[in-house]
Amino acid sequence: MQTRVLTGITTTGTPHLGNYAGAIRPAIAASRRADVDAFFFLADYHALIKSDDAARIERSRLEIAASWLAAGLDPARVTFYRQSDIPEIPELTWFLTCVTAKGLLNRAHAYKAAVDRNTETGEDADAGVTAGLYMYPVLMAADILAFDAHKVPVGRDQIQHLEMARDIGQRFNHIYGRDFFVLPEVQIEEEVATLPGLDGRKMSKSYDNTIPLFAGGAKALREAILRIVTDSRAPGEPKDPDSSALHTIFRAFADEAESAAFRAALVDGLGWGEAKQRLFERIERDVAPMRERYDALIAKPDEIEATLREGASKARAIATPKLAAIREAIGLSAMGAAPAAKAGKPAAPKTGNAAPRFASFRDGDAGFRFRLFATDGEELLLSVPFADPKAAGALQQRIRKLGHAAVLREDGDALVLELEGETVARTPQAGDAMLGRLRQALQQLATQD
Ligand code: TRP
Repeated sequence: MQTRVLTGITTTGTPHLGNYAGAIRPAIAASRRADVDAFFFLADYHALIKSDDAARIERSRLEIAASWLAAGLDPARVTFYRQSDIPEIPELTWFLTCVTAKGLLNRAHAYKAAVDRNTETGEDADAGVTAGLYMYPVLMAADILAFDAHKVPVGRDQIQHLEMARDIGQRFNHIYGRDFFVLPEVQIEEEVATLPGLDGRKMSKSYDNTIPLFAGGAKALREAILRIVTDSRAPGEPKDPDSSALHTIFRAFADEAESAAFRAALVDGLGWGEAKQRLFERIERDVAPMRERYDALIAKPDEIEATLREGASKARAIATPKLAAIREAIGLSAMGAAPAAKAGKPAAPKTGNAAPRFASFRDGDAGFRFRLFATDGEELLLSVPFADPKAAGALQQRIRKLGHAAVLREDGDALVLELEGETVARTPQAGDAMLGRLRQALQQLATQD
């Protein structure tokens, strides 16, 4: 069973070296794990809260998308999309808004900090605060809850937002009496590198001390490295690696042996100029091939656009049926429609069935089995045999109720459905598409009655 790991990247600004070592590189590495179902998206609705500079937002979306792809994000393996391509996100935002206590949002750090600043300067408490800033945590909750993410890797500054997403999801589940949403867990990467910037403080756009990742090419990278602040020790004098930003940045790119050699050279009196050259060369070794891909991608924005649209349709295959079920549960379904027809995709005319259905049969001497078919007639599950047809029927009833609680696992070339650790049914094949269809069908069954 895969863990769904989801994270958003706000599209203001251009990725720098600190973003690469601290976020992009570890996230892509994690997305390659077999037990991870990774979702990455460009949080361009969130960007609007921070910036009303259209050109900047446009540019940033392109640069961030190209950076992640160039750094090795594989859109065939992960779900990579744009928030603004998923209409279910703002739709869910409103549904969540209606169950969110205003007092909860009053306590959000970013909003409170703005109010405190205003109060200190004698302004009206809400001066300059948009409702967008105020609603930020609800939009973020919708990002996460729409996809039932289990884990959300973020920086420490986002912990409160994750707590709020859980609160809001839980409240919705409670009010509407069903486990609509998985409650997400925050994942703080303790191990990843936080890089110092040019002035030795944490590398950050807000300190204006960043080293560009791709922008400006090797030249800009070298020039920035030359500007890293050092002490005034001359060549030949021993340097203290532990107080040197150069050394810290070097370590984020080098392996143990390279780092040890660099350290020894500094202690031995390596000049800062030479040290900077070595740092540049070490980073360039990793960055140059990625930069080449980056430049090629940036030159073809329509290809990036196509990739993101494909990602959006993968993402919507999950969000659309989910929102349909939610609309129904909160009283917004089509008038006069049978509940089953509302819960998921419209029925395919082929079978005329609006809902997934079970079909029982006797399997020779083996016993009684059943299959589960999707609305369009595709076979999704075949049960293990039962000696007693009643036991097979009882299992169907249990499967009907599972929804999110279904335990699915890959087993060879099939997915298996488990109950209390026992395999009770198998799919005809494995794969993400199968997993998506089966999850959707189980969800539809669970929201039917
Ligand atoms: N608020 C996050 C940040 O500034 C970006 C973000 C938006 C996000 N939606 C998200 C992160 C959902 C994780 C999950 O870093």
